[in-house]
Amino acid sequence: MNAQNLPGHPYVAYRDGSLYIEDVRLDALARTHGTPLFVYSKSAMLSALAAYQRGFAGRKAQICYAMKANSSLAILQLFAHAGCGFDIVSGGELDRVLTAGGDPAKIIFSGVGKTQSEMRRALESGIGCFNVESEAELEALDAVARSLGRRAPVSIRVNPNVDAKTHPYISTGLKGNKFGIAHERTLSAYQRAAALPGLQVVGIDCHIGSQITQAGPYLDAMDRVLDLVDAIEAAGIHLHHIDFGGGLGINYNGDAPPAADALWEQLLAKLDARGYGERQLMIEPGRSLVGNAGVCLTEVLYLKPGENKNFCIVDAAMNDLPRPAMYEAYHQIVPVALRAGTASNWDVVGPVCESGDWLGRDRSLELQPGDLLAVLSAGAYCMSMSSNYNTRGRPAEVLVDGDQAHLIRRRESPADTFRHESLL
Ligand code: LLP
Repeated sequence: MNAQNLPGHPYVAYRDGSLYIEDVRLDALARTHGTPLFVYSKSAMLSALAAYQRGFAGRKAQICYAMKANSSLAILQLFAHAGCGFDIVSGGELDRVLTAGGDPAKIIFSGVGKTQSEMRRALESGIGCFNVESEAELEALDAVARSLGRRAPVSIRVNPNVDAKTHPYISTGLKGNKFGIAHERTLSAYQRAAALPGLQVVGIDCHIGSQITQAGPYLDAMDRVLDLVDAIEAAGIHLHHIDFGGGLGINYNGDAPPAADALWEQLLAKLDARGYGERQLMIEPGRSLVGNAGVCLTEVLYLKPGENKNFCIVDAAMNDLPRPAMYEAYHQIVPVALRAGTASNWDVVGPVCESGDWLGRDRSLELQPGDLLAVLSAGAYCMSMSSNYNTRGRPAEVLVDGDQAHLIRRRESPADTFRHESLL
C-alpha cells in the first residue's frame, strides 16, 4: 500500500490515493452522511492533549479546554473523560458541559459580559472559578453571591499589555482590547475583591490572544503576571492558582508554533526561576486541542472557468466555515481522491450570496464536478461558529475512532432552522 501523510495532520493521510482519517475512508463517510460534513479524529484530539499532559508531568496543573473552539457534546465528553476541566464563556456553554458530564468544580467562567442570571446559575452549579474582567463585574458578582448566601471563587483576568503577534481580531492582551483589567489597576482590584464578603480570591489569570506561534509573547506575559503575583501576595492576598490562558497556534499554512510540551518546558523554567513552580497552574487551550483533528468534506458542484478567475463552487460555505470570510484565514484544501492530471488555479467558493463567501483563493487543484474536497484544520472555530445564514442547515459531524465512525450530530434540516419561529 502506498501511504502519504499530510504534514502537520498526523491522523489524515492518503492510502493508495484515497484520503483517510485514522482508518476510515473519507469518501465512504461522505456517501453515508452527505456533505458538507465535519469529520474529527479522536486520536488527534487525545494526542494533542497528551502533549500538554507531558509538559505538565509532575506539576500541579489543570487543563481547562476552551470549549468555544468546538463545543459538540461528544467532544466535551471525550475531554471530560480524559480529565479536563472547561473554560466557558456563557450559560449555554455551562449547560453543555454539565450535559456532557463535565465536573463543575473544574469549570472556569471567562468573558467580559456575564449576566447576573449566568452568575447565579454558575454559582448554584458549584463552578471552580469566575475569571472576572472588570471592577464592575466584581461588584455584581459579590451581590449575586451574597443573595445566594455563597462566596464566589474569583480570579482577576489581567490585561498584561503584551502583543501576541496574531490577527488583530484574535489578539486580546493589549491595552486597546476590551478584555481583562489593566495591569496597573490589578492590585487595587484585588484589594477590593478581598474586601467584598461575597467573593473569595482564588487565583489570577491572563489570556493574550489566539493562534500564537511564538513563545516570546507567553514569556513576556508570564513575567508581567508574576510581577503582579509578587505585589498582590506582598499585600497579604494569597493566590491559590495561576492561569496562563490558552492561545497556542496550530499549523494552517506552514505555521510552525512550538509544540505544547516544548512551550511549557520554557514557561515552567521561568516559573521555577521565579519561585512559583509549585503553584497550582491552569491553562485554557482551545484551538491547539482540536483544530488539526478535524476536516470538512465538501462536494464540487460546478466549475466556472473565467477570464480572470476560475471559480470552483462547492456545497460548503461561509456559514459552515466562517474563518476565511471573517479573518481571511487560510485553510488547506485537498482532494479526497488523488487523480493524475493537470491542475489549474481555482477560487473555492460556496453557494452563499456574498462575495465574502470563499473558502480558499488561487488553489492549484485538478478538479471535476462531483469531486470531494477536504478543508483541513477545520476542528476549531468552524462548527462552533457556524450559522444558518441563507437558511442552510448546519452540517453533520462524525467522530472517528480507529476504524469506527460515530455520528455525533445529525445534519440540520431546513425545518430545524425555523423550528422556533411562528407565523403571524
Ligand atoms: N481563554 C480565553 C479567555 C479565550 O478568550 C480564548 C479564545 C481561549 C482561552 C482559547 O484560545 P485558543 O487556545 O483557542 O487560541 N474565532 C477565532 C478565535 C477566537 C478566540 C477567542 N478566545 C478564530 O477562529 O481564529
